[in-house]
Amino acid sequence: MKRAFVIKSNTAITEFKREYLYSLASLTGRLDVVIRALIAALLGPKGIREEVIFYAILEGPPNPPLTLMAKGSELKYLPLSEEEVAKAIYTTSGGSNTWLKVEKKGLKEVMGEVISSGYKVIYLVEDGVDIGRYEFREEESYCFIVGDQKGLSKEDEEFLEEIRAVRVSLGPLPYLSSHCIIYVNTLLDRIDTSP
Ligand SMILES: C[S@@+](CC[C@H](N)C(=O)[O-])C[C@H]1O[C@@H](n2cnc3c(N)ncnc32)[C@H](O)[C@@H]1O
Repeated sequence: MKRAFVIKSNTAITEFKREYLYSLASLTGRLDVVIRALIAALLGPKGIREEVIFYAILEGPPNPPLTLMAKGSELKYLPLSEEEVAKAIYTTSGGSNTWLKVEKKGLKEVMGEVISSGYKVIYLVEDGVDIGRYEFREEESYCFIVGDQKGLSKEDEEFLEEIRAVRVSLGPLPYLSSHCIIYVNTLLDRIDTSP
């Protein structure tokens, strides 16, 4: 089942410097959260997940918004350490990386793109409809939106309501963004492989 994951980070920086590479959690506005989400989205039990497109919308200083994008179907290699992914973000911002794209756009533009590509939009949020009640269909494509360490802003939630994103919950407890992505990937794999 084709799927896209979008993480919106209100704090992750939009200018990358070499000296940040080894202090991700403290100097980058939690780019580490975004990087863990990227690995969770694109890495599967058989290697790179060709069925996944990953977007990270960065809204931190000094130049928001920026969107990082990687398509599993176009990847030949996926770095598995946070440090290596951070290096790829650093080099892509200088224009010399091919697997990770960086573009000057925000949540609205990204959602416009995924909706026009036919994805159904699901906002993962603690107080949504239980995911066990949501009927996924093999022939459909789904785009899941997750917040960062603090969740989405009220403004983003209003926008998602406007575009009729379905609010879906993995339970009442708040899990890490990357854990939510792994859970959803696993659930959709089970649907894909069920007889
Ligand atoms: C660490 S949580 C956000 C923080 C949390 N809202 C808080 O109270 O601090 C990161 C994101 O993962 C998703 N998420 C976390 N737990 C979830 C759950 N139980 N069901 C659905 N989505 C969840 C949401 O998109 C959330 O914005």
